[in-house]
Amino acid sequence: MSAKPTLGEGVSGSPPQVARPDLTPPTPTPPPPTPPPALPPPVVTRGETQASAPSDDAKGSPPRLAARGFSLFYGRHQALKSITLEIPDRSVTAIIGPSGCGKSTLLRSFNRMNDLIAGVRTEGVVEVSGRDVLGAIDVVDLRRRVGMVFQRPNPFPKSIFDNVAFGLRLIGVRSRTELEGRVETSLKRAALWDEVKDRLERGALQLSGGQQQRLCIARCLAVEPEVILMDEPASALDPTATARVEELILSLKSRYTIAIVTHNMQQAARISDHTAFMMMGELVEVDTTRRLFTSPAKKITEDYITGRFG
Ligand SMILES: Nc1ncnc2c1ncn2[C@@H]1O[C@H](COP(=O)(O)OP(=O)(O)OP(=O)(O)O)[C@@H](O)[C@H]1O
Ligand SMILES: [Mg+2]
Repeated sequence: MSAKPTLGEGVSGSPPQVARPDLTPPTPTPPPPTPPPALPPPVVTRGETQASAPSDDAKGSPPRLAARGFSLFYGRHQALKSITLEIPDRSVTAIIGPSGCGKSTLLRSFNRMNDLIAGVRTEGVVEVSGRDVLGAIDVVDLRRRVGMVFQRPNPFPKSIFDNVAFGLRLIGVRSRTELEGRVETSLKRAALWDEVKDRLERGALQLSGGQQQRLCIARCLAVEPEVILMDEPASALDPTATARVEELILSLKSRYTIAIVTHNMQQAARISDHTAFMMMGELVEVDTTRRLFTSPAKKITEDYITGRFG
């Protein structure tokens, strides 16, 4: 374990160099029973067909995130099986599926957090903004562009200010005025500023769980990412704090591309534009959230979203 976190570890706050960082107990939130969840307002679709990845906008720019025939192996265990998925810019895509189906693994593939796990091997392509990220690239820069927020809020044992400034200092921002400006902007975007503006020098660990999670989101926003990956960001929070994080996610999508793993079907329905359903390492289907929850293409998807298994 290195003494100093790297940018990716620091900004994302992931556990550094842990052999199996994701083997936290499965989330206790089971999918709800029938009926299917209340649906969000209709999503504008762009003519994508059932079970195909949502296409990007008509301007022809590449999707913000893409996996193409992407497989991942932990040693001999194949955790992802030829996943092909596109995640369009400035939208929220929910990734759902039973425990162990590969959701976190897929999320971590977009910013190469799986590199921290020994024995990982991949096949196929992962792209961010149309550029391959599996080859020889600047991984620190990738993790700045593709930030990550985890299930459990993980602020550093530092002040609120220093938590948000952490990634900025790592990328060389030294000016106090610039740091202060960017910390304030990030805390405002994370809907936390009003609650902490008078106590920026206090320890971050004194904040409530919901505030800590918004602080982690502010820390991620400070380095101006293009994408925010969220792995069950609200599952450790109470309903009020969850609602605040959901509101925040909705407010962020005008600027950022968000991919969120959730076990909460209602949450997926409330906040996402597209939903991808995975099972046993495969992408079963992806569609607009409305269509996936009202007329899924596959029976197995219907069984999952109506709580028949999971
Ligand atoms: N570091 C690791 N080393 C070896 N196998 C792993 C590692 N992390 C995950 N796996 C395995 O890969 C598969 C997919 O795991 P992953 O954590 O991506 O699932 P998940 O869909 O996120 O599950 P959950 O909903 O419980 O979080 C599982 O079989 C898991 O045991
Ligand atoms: Mg997971």
